[in-house]
Amino acid sequence: MDSDQPTLPLTGDVRIPLLGFGTWQATGEAGCQAVLAALDAGYRHIDTATMYGNEKEVGRAVKESGLRREDVFITTKLPPDRVGRERETIEASLAALDTDYVDLWLVHWPPSAPGDSIPVWREMLAARDENMARTVGVSNYSIGQIDELIQATEETPAVNQIRWSPSLYDRQTYAAHRDRGVALEGYSPFKASDLSDPVLVRIAQAHDVSPAQVVLRWHIDHEIIVIPKSVTPERIRANADVFGFSLTAEEMRDIDALAG
Ligand SMILES: NC(=O)c1ccc[n+]([C@@H]2O[C@H](COP(=O)([O-])OP(=O)(O)OC[C@H]3O[C@@H](n4cnc5c(N)ncnc54)[C@H](OP(=O)(O)O)[C@@H]3O)[C@@H](O)[C@H]2O)c1
Repeated sequence: MDSDQPTLPLTGDVRIPLLGFGTWQATGEAGCQAVLAALDAGYRHIDTATMYGNEKEVGRAVKESGLRREDVFITTKLPPDRVGRERETIEASLAALDTDYVDLWLVHWPPSAPGDSIPVWREMLAARDENMARTVGVSNYSIGQIDELIQATEETPAVNQIRWSPSLYDRQTYAAHRDRGVALEGYSPFKASDLSDPVLVRIAQAHDVSPAQVVLRWHIDHEIIVIPKSVTPERIRANADVFGFSLTAEEMRDIDALAG
């Protein structure tokens, strides 16, 4: 894989690589080494969060990779318990990541008090307007919760990052995001999949790849951003090696049908 991998346009003249590298539970030196291995394997999009406690290691890996900052797309996330402290949280993220801006800042979960939702979103937009984030979005939001933000501010979240996989495929949710111009970003592609499912195994064998690679390719062919995590060098490389084959329309339909 090289840096001309597929990207998706987001609001605000920003493009996000469809394949990203997940870093939840990749902490300390192992986390730093995993991100370095990912950048070496060709990923140009790293997903972190204040909650993951590894922004410092992500920042160090990006620096050590020798890549230019503008060639790596970095996402981080605001924990819901930081309501009212959004600005100090993004400043701490930028300091830990050792960067002037993130490419995407997400609200990690909807705030538990529904009345906090709009004020938090306004703070996200303010951070974007001050160039601390190139674009902003949400995570774990329902379509109804996204509509509330749009109605109140006329600003659409660029992304909604939610748990997603063939088993969780839901045509209506997919279409609802598309209709609103919200990019769908899937997390836990493997944890939410049965990699021994006979349909995935058959399709993997037909392309001489693994079921995990089929799951990732299925996301990309649907233009769903996908962020597999691994701390295992061979898996980091294999998970990035998904651009040498593509799925037929019939295979895509068979995988879509796994959600029953
Ligand atoms: N917004 C949210 O609320 C939220 C929630 C969860 C996750 N996320 C993000 O999404 C990323 C991915 O989700 P996730 O970490 O929950 O799960 P995941 O990427 O679906 O699965 C990671 C697990 O799969 C293993 N694995 C990696 N490649 C594999 C392969 N080719 N074959 C078989 N197993 C493989 C990993 O093991 P090894 O590491 O041991 O190789 C690890 O145990 C996270 O890291 C995080 O960045 C966001």
